[in-house]
Amino acid sequence: MSLQPVSLPYLIPDMPPAEEVVPFLREIDGNRWYTNFGPLATRLNDQILRTHFTDDRVKLLLCSTGTAALELGLAALGLKPGARVLVPAFTFPASANAIQNCGFEPVFCDVDENSWVMTPDIALEAVSRANIDAVMPVAALGRPLSASQWDRFFEKTGLPVLIDAAAALGNQEVGRHILVAFSMHATKAFGIGEGGLLACQNDNVIARARRICNFGMDARGQVVGHGTNAKLSEYHAAVGLAQIARWPARQLKRARVDASYQAQMKTCSHLWVSQSFTDNESLGEKVLIPLPVRHNRSTMPVRLHAGIRVSVQSVQEQLAAQGIGTRLWYNPGLHRHPHWVACAQVCRAGESTLVTVDRLNDRLIGLPFHNFLTPQDITFIVGNLRQIVENKEYSASLSQ
Ligand SMILES: Cc1ncc(COP(=O)(O)O)c(C=O)c1O
Repeated sequence: MSLQPVSLPYLIPDMPPAEEVVPFLREIDGNRWYTNFGPLATRLNDQILRTHFTDDRVKLLLCSTGTAALELGLAALGLKPGARVLVPAFTFPASANAIQNCGFEPVFCDVDENSWVMTPDIALEAVSRANIDAVMPVAALGRPLSASQWDRFFEKTGLPVLIDAAAALGNQEVGRHILVAFSMHATKAFGIGEGGLLACQNDNVIARARRICNFGMDARGQVVGHGTNAKLSEYHAAVGLAQIARWPARQLKRARVDASYQAQMKTCSHLWVSQSFTDNESLGEKVLIPLPVRHNRSTMPVRLHAGIRVSVQSVQEQLAAQGIGTRLWYNPGLHRHPHWVACAQVCRAGESTLVTVDRLNDRLIGLPFHNFLTPQDITFIVGNLRQIVENKEYSASLSQ
């Protein structure tokens, strides 16, 4: 399959223009301090705390990538070699990469039909049937998870929890007991090029992660444990400081794009559902389900009803023919990647595979979502998608 060149790309990163970064680069020239927890990185750390978190007990460690943040978080948990980490298969490969890079074993599980994430209930069922040493819930596609629910999971099971919230910076809260990893990759809502963040409320965990991030050395330069180099350079911090100054304006742009999609969806009410359905509401006969969010969204994936007789690959091709770029998110599920097919899975009771992940992969398509989309672009995108699914006599197939 060859997709046509697109005129409406799936994603255009919204990075600060060079002139907004230059004042910070001049500071670096003046300081002659280029990395190793420098003054700009320290300032960015404080500003991110103030801008993106409401709880002043949260502590941060800035690092080189979101994957590094996951690795530092996992390594700081002090798990035994070969520890088994439960992770939903509906996620980006980095979640399982990080587990294996730390010498641990991923154990894949399913996700909830309505929220598309591993819930504490799914994890509880999995740990009752398999040996698990830690869990990594994923804020799939930027949808934040309930920090208090995962705190309760920890209190109940004693199993460490590290949330992969790569795309949820600004939306994901940090609980009392859980660790959270974020990405600041250029494609994320708060992008600085490459960068990551580990957040938690425990000073000792952050101190341990910081030591691991710096070759495992203590304050006297002695290596006292496992280490790597995952520090954030001052140059990336410079981009971050320029980016944080633009954050309110960027959030406004993003909210306008979201509102524009919502308005378009309303014009075809027989196809779309509202954003406001709750986690427990049945999907019923809804035909296109956008990712449910109550926060600033990061992505615009929609789920085609099982009754629509068209594959997501075909929808992708047909939209591409109109110049519309799309993404088949987390497709295939991690349990279907060649490198991971032999890994352990804990399926739901009575199932022999991760059925919900497979079903989502069959039905989910990410529409263009970025700050440069105009209302006209969105009318064009939604109109084309509507035509494709309407042509498939969805109402006839739904009533079967
Ligand atoms: C769910 C998830 N986890 C981890 C990562 C890795 O983040 P980074 O690219 O900053 O290493 C990503 C990147 O997109 C992601 O989507």
